[in-house]
Amino acid sequence: ARKIIIDTDPGQDDAVAILLALASPEEIEVLGITAVAGNVPLALTAKNARIVCELAGRPDVPVYAGCDAPLSRPLVTAEHVHGKTGLDGPKLPDPAMELQPQHAVAFLIETLRRAPAGTVTLCPLGPLTNIARAFQEAPDIIPRVREVVLMGGAYFEVGNITPAAEFNIYVDPEAADIVFKSGVPLVVMPLDVTHGALVTKARNDAFRALGTPVGLAVAEMTDFFERFDKEKYGSAGAPLHDPTVIAYLIRPELFSGRYINVEIETRSPLTLGMTVADWWRVTDRRPNAMFMGDVVAEAFFSLLTERLGRL
Ligand code: BDR
Ligand code: CA
Repeated sequence: ARKIIIDTDPGQDDAVAILLALASPEEIEVLGITAVAGNVPLALTAKNARIVCELAGRPDVPVYAGCDAPLSRPLVTAEHVHGKTGLDGPKLPDPAMELQPQHAVAFLIETLRRAPAGTVTLCPLGPLTNIARAFQEAPDIIPRVREVVLMGGAYFEVGNITPAAEFNIYVDPEAADIVFKSGVPLVVMPLDVTHGALVTKARNDAFRALGTPVGLAVAEMTDFFERFDKEKYGSAGAPLHDPTVIAYLIRPELFSGRYINVEIETRSPLTLGMTVADWWRVTDRRPNAMFMGDVVAEAFFSLLTERLGRL
């Protein structure tokens, strides 16, 4: 199984991504979950990550709290999408499992130094603050990372927090810039992919029909989260962003994209956090990311529903 660290700001779609990973032990071994401030403040994301581990019956998964604010900006949150708790929708008990005492950044550094080089994959599902701080503090870990597979950015489907930017990159553009320039092997799931992964009524019903506590909780989470996109954008359902990262580790053939140069805008107030993706290769800038453009949505949802049924 591929060893991964999930860096996350749950978030209903983050929660579903964690559940998908924990439901797939043949392909994925979760070494730990590192929480970061994003959708809601750090205290809540660190709590929500533990709620989700317990929902999956896996209180043994170590959860670490990381950075409580972006590298050099005040935190922007997204309660308007995810609710006050970040995990609004289902009624889930407070976690009994404790947070690990170690800081998430220290855990990232230590794990990458200890494991054989090229064996640990990082899966960021929120702002890139923890990952960038680890790369800044310990540049020796960068060549040891097998791959970073992240959710963030946008190309054609620009803008869910500003007209030009996607939330995860917008919240900490300096951190994103560090990761995209680091030279680490990078796979990106932008809005172009995730807006193809909509939780329609039929897909939501399929979660509910699992008849398990996990199935019900996921149905309630995606119901809540859906409200925002339906009301605001009139789309068929909520885009299930973050689980695409985990699905890629299980079935990479469901995704297609291009290996291209992607740069992050860190200065312009108008386009701050924009992922400037050279999709048509009009520059000679060095490609640094496999930037995905599409997902086979039906197969993605069948995989997800089947796996959630195992928990
Ligand atoms: C991303 O932002 C968050 O609100 C979601 O959890 C996802 O990671 C989508 O732009
Ligand atoms: Ca997220």
